[in-house]
Amino acid sequence: MIEKVTTTTLKQMKASGEKIACLTSYDASFARLQDEAGVDVLLVGDSLGMVLHGDDTTLNVTMTDMIYHTRLVSKVCQRALVISDMPYKSYSSPAQALENAKRLVNEGGADMVKLEGGAKISESVALITQQGIEVCGHLGLMPQSIEEMGGYRVQAKTEEDAEKLKQDALILQQAGANCLVLECIPAKVAAEVSKMLDIPVIGIGAGSDCDAQVLVVYDMLGLSSKQMKFSKNFLTGKDSISDAIKSYVEDVKNKLFPAAVHTYD
Ligand code: KIV
Repeated sequence: MIEKVTTTTLKQMKASGEKIACLTSYDASFARLQDEAGVDVLLVGDSLGMVLHGDDTTLNVTMTDMIYHTRLVSKVCQRALVISDMPYKSYSSPAQALENAKRLVNEGGADMVKLEGGAKISESVALITQQGIEVCGHLGLMPQSIEEMGGYRVQAKTEEDAEKLKQDALILQQAGANCLVLECIPAKVAAEVSKMLDIPVIGIGAGSDCDAQVLVVYDMLGLSSKQMKFSKNFLTGKDSISDAIKSYVEDVKNKLFPAAVHTYD
C-alpha cells in the first residue's frame, strides 16, 4: 500500500535532513506522473493564472478555478500531499478565509491550503488551523501583492526587510501554520528562517538551505516563455517528461538543485 505524505512526514524529513521535493500541478495527467516520480508535495498554485490562462499576474484566478484544478490533481494523487492556493481576495477576512479554505478541502480535496502574507493574515491562519485545516504560509515575493511590491523582484534584501520577514515567519508559525513558502529572497535569509522555524520551509529562488524546493512545473520543463534565474530546464537531455521530473526529485534530494547559479545574494 502506498503511504500518503502528511505534515508529520514533512516534519520528520526536516528533522532528518532529507530534502522535500515539491512541484506545482494543475491537472490529472501531470499529477499522476509527478506522484509516480516521487514528488513529495504537489502545489496547485494560482500560478495557473499565468501558465494555463496566459495572464501576466495571478490576480484573476477565482475560487472556482482553484477548486476545479485542485480536484483534478487530488483525485489521482496517491502519495504526495496536495496544497491548494487560496486565490486573490478569497481571504479578505478571517471568516471568508475559513469558508474558502473549507471549500478547497471539501470540494477540491486539498490536504492543505496556502495563503500569502505575514502578520496581517495571522488571525485567518489561526482560525483555519483551529478548525483542523492545515495551512502553508507564503512570504518574500508574494505574487498576489505584485502591485504593492512594484513588480517581480527579489525581496528582503535590506536588513530591515529581512528582519520583518523573520518576524512574519515566526508569527505564522505561532498562528499554527504547518509549513512556509519563501519566494525569491537572498539564500542567507532563507537559511536563517529555515533554521529558526520548526515547520518545513519550501524555497523557490531562496537557495539550497531550505528544507524543501518547489518550481512551477512548466518552468522546469522549459515550457515558459522565459527561463527564470532560479529555475532550470530538467527536460534538456531527457527522453520524457517523467524522466525530467525524476531527475528534478533526485537533484533536490541529493542537494544538487538549486546550485549557486540559481540563487540570489
Ligand atoms: O502559485 C504558485 O505556483 C506558487 C509557487 C510559485 C510557490 O505560489
